[in-house]
Amino acid sequence: MTESAAASATPPRCHALVPCAGVGERAGAGGPKQYRVVAGRSVVAHTLAALAAVPRIASTLVVLAPDDAEFERHAPGAHRVARVGGATRAASVAAGLAALTADGARDDDWVLVHDAARCLVRPADIERLIAACEHDATGGLLALPVADTLKHEADGRAAATVDRRALWQAQTPQMFRLGLLRAALAAAGDAVTDEASAVEALGHAPKLVPGALENFKLTWPADFALAERLLRTRA
Ligand code: CTP
Ligand code: MG
Repeated sequence: MTESAAASATPPRCHALVPCAGVGERAGAGGPKQYRVVAGRSVVAHTLAALAAVPRIASTLVVLAPDDAEFERHAPGAHRVARVGGATRAASVAAGLAALTADGARDDDWVLVHDAARCLVRPADIERLIAACEHDATGGLLALPVADTLKHEADGRAAATVDRRALWQAQTPQMFRLGLLRAALAAAGDAVTDEASAVEALGHAPKLVPGALENFKLTWPADFALAERLLRTRA
């Protein structure tokens, strides 16, 4: 068997890619939010532990800012990192995909992009995402149907009410084939805030896989105390 025939005989693998190169501006003081400590360890250490508990994930690559001097202190153990983070989340993910490719990942391998700042993700939810997407032509994402009534704001007042019936909140992981995602992000540019929007722009319809409210992204100052309470009271 030739080398390429051997490669195509191997089933596609799942790689996790963790953008971890943000500054956490909305979270306020205290340094990059992924390194703040909640329930005894850093946000990113919780995140990496959840990913490590999913047997289907063959490898995890963490995308750090080029000048990051904190990750190793906050994430003990052996982790694969690429210091290729960019000015936006999309740039960090695109650079991480290039690093995965350079490391030998195939275009038909799956990539699960997961925010370092979503440290409450449950391994069982990641497994459900993989099961829901691995035989899908496009891929998909964990997401939640919007529960609250939504308002359009103008000058601090409710100017209009938005029909929420077809609206979902996108979470991560977002799971796509490496080749499709690389092409989608290259076409979409640096402004997109998730992978699915880049894939949608190519005309595909990512699968919405119902996730959990707990898998929120630590964003605002009050989110850290909430995450602490949730993590401390877990079984
Ligand atoms: N991220 C990244 N590179 C960037 C910006 C964000 O890798 N240039 C990562 C963050 O570290 C985070 C995830 O993408 O794990 C989600 O982004 P977000 O919640 O927006 O984090 P920050 O950009 O750090 O926060 P803020 O937007 O409040 O500054
Ligand atoms: Mg941001």
